[in-house]
Amino acid sequence: MYEMIDLKYDYDGLEPYIDAETINIHYNAHYKSYLDKLNYLLKKNNYNFSDSKEKLVDNISMFDMNDRGEILYNLGGVLNHELYFNSMGEINNQPTGEILRLINRDYGNYSNFQKEFIKTANNLKGSGYTFLTMDKNNKLFIMNTSNQDNPLYYGFKPILALDLWEHAYYLKYRNKRSDYINAFLNIIDFANINKEIKKYL
Ligand SMILES: [Fe+2]
Repeated sequence: MYEMIDLKYDYDGLEPYIDAETINIHYNAHYKSYLDKLNYLLKKNNYNFSDSKEKLVDNISMFDMNDRGEILYNLGGVLNHELYFNSMGEINNQPTGEILRLINRDYGNYSNFQKEFIKTANNLKGSGYTFLTMDKNNKLFIMNTSNQDNPLYYGFKPILALDLWEHAYYLKYRNKRSDYINAFLNIIDFANINKEIKKYL
């Protein structure tokens, strides 16, 4: 069985940008439910849980054809939420180290990157995510995915995730999704991005 990741912060640790009740419900209800469904489907397929969750994306053909779609949906729900919760945690942090180097190389400076990220996030239609990813040449690429699709499904390596489903912001921001997008940029944990980058180098 795969286990829930721990949050690095208290439920109110991201206030005032994201409220405690939203983090609590998001983590204990939404994220947990994707994990429970994924574990159920994998057990049903006699999977022995020997590999990382990321590996399942490459090995999806080992599962019953009728379950693959649902496995990918719930696997995305787990991978996306784990990256999202890990992407946050520092207030007014600035990029350093490898991510700073890549941002300067691919976007010129952090301010250009922020504008590009905000523009892409505001363009998302319906429920989904905005990711910062690396392409096959490890060039940075900001992309949106729908529903629970993970960038790995498209050959991109996700290193930062912003959950744009209504459950991620509606209690506090209501219909003002763009305010939530701007708020997210104040709570990015850049050390975690550097950790995610290392997984792929
Ligand atoms: Fe979510």
